[in-house]
Amino acid sequence: MIFFTRFHKPHETATLASMYKPSNVGINNYKSLITMWEENVAIVREVSERSPGVTYQELLDADTHPVPNVLRLESTKSYGPDEFPVARYTTREWHEVEKEKLWSRVWQYACRVDEISEIGDYYIYEIVGKSYVVMRSAEDEIKAYPNACLHRGRQLKDYDGRCSEIRCAFHGFAWKLDGELKEIPANWDFPHVEGESFQLPEIKVGIWSGFVFINPDPDAEPLEDFIGELDDHFKEWDLERRYKEAHVAKVIHANWKIAQEAFCEAYHVVATHPQIMGYLGDTNSQVDVWDNFARVISPGGTTSPLLKYELSEDDKLRTMLDVRHDEELPVNVPEGETMRAVAAQMSRERWRPMAGDWVDSMSDAEMMDSIDYTLFPNFHPWGAFNRIVYRFRPNGDDHRSSIMECIFLAPYPEGEKPDPAPIHWLSDDENFSDATELNMLGKVFDQDVFNMAKVQTGLETTQKTGFVLSNYQEAKVRWLHQKLSEWCEEE
Ligand code: FES
Ligand SMILES: [Fe+2]
Repeated sequence: MIFFTRFHKPHETATLASMYKPSNVGINNYKSLITMWEENVAIVREVSERSPGVTYQELLDADTHPVPNVLRLESTKSYGPDEFPVARYTTREWHEVEKEKLWSRVWQYACRVDEISEIGDYYIYEIVGKSYVVMRSAEDEIKAYPNACLHRGRQLKDYDGRCSEIRCAFHGFAWKLDGELKEIPANWDFPHVEGESFQLPEIKVGIWSGFVFINPDPDAEPLEDFIGELDDHFKEWDLERRYKEAHVAKVIHANWKIAQEAFCEAYHVVATHPQIMGYLGDTNSQVDVWDNFARVISPGGTTSPLLKYELSEDDKLRTMLDVRHDEELPVNVPEGETMRAVAAQMSRERWRPMAGDWVDSMSDAEMMDSIDYTLFPNFHPWGAFNRIVYRFRPNGDDHRSSIMECIFLAPYPEGEKPDPAPIHWLSDDENFSDATELNMLGKVFDQDVFNMAKVQTGLETTQKTGFVLSNYQEAKVRWLHQKLSEWCEEE
């Protein structure tokens, strides 16, 4: 059963009428792209069916430690029609709409604050063929500029680095770090250039939890408003007090949404990662959707309801630790205890040297579960101790390839913050499992990546105009497309 509802729009400045009315965005096959709307309102689905097996909230009831309130929240919402438009992944037209309506207006994660910690440090952030310089202009100030000289337009910076001025490599125009014009070589020839009007134009910058965000839209709402209650969700897990332990990037031969959506549900575990079914309650994941953010929580240390046989608690541990049946387990699960609780305690001990006795306040859930948040459109900070942050974006101006990044944000002993890891770019021939800093995760990513180019080819081949999604388990993917409709189909 489906019904319709109105929803929040991305820009408060839009009129009420434009809020609910998909506009003509000037593309030929526009009709085939609009399926998120009926009668000019968003489609909301009723979701009452759930997987057999233990629910996430029941698992929390059995936790050996107090569970934080944030995990007790439930916000079930499922958007969208029965079929979704294939054209969003395959057409240049839709990519152009995303460029104009999404990437030029939305808040997007650029870099970590500690990647530009010294005055003059800068980071180049690129998105759909555009380039921005994110600059530490003063001790307590970060600015961002379009990476373009005001003389004849050469990009000002070619690589990340540190500088004492922003000097163009073409004719030598130079600006101070705060964007004030510093020098025009042979300035007698530019009597028509006023210093004040030659200030580098700034674009909006916002900081959340040690992440620097930029937004090219001068009318964008403040980042705090865009992030909203996500900030409350991460209070306990304060990602600012982490350092960038690893950062691995790879070009994926598929649209950025194909890459991203592979990490927005656990429904694919049964076919793509069957080796983890012994210790992951894939179909028992809880899916919550708020406004600009959503999450999927997949419980660890509990078996998949899709597994056709029972595992002992020891065997669950064996599967998780990848210990062969003819080898000894490092620890056994004591009679009457669960593997989930034992593995959670092992995890606390692992993190104790870095995070201190704070780990004793952490629930089994925080030590064991995949708490995968997404802030629209492409930023994925995980809650608790998983360390993971993903980002997915188009690769340059290409809608058929994308950049997938995995960052580990690790705790560190008080006062001993290590330097952030540089980006480790994997070549086309390298796999995520070649990035040994990702440990076991690399192999799992390789399984995910193996599907991606094949999804792109399949979607370009199919004679259907739409693909289908499940009601509940894939509700985060539904939400992503709902948000895309709000941003890309408004006037
Ligand atoms: S283009 Fe930059 S100084 Fe000429
Ligand atoms: Fe996966």
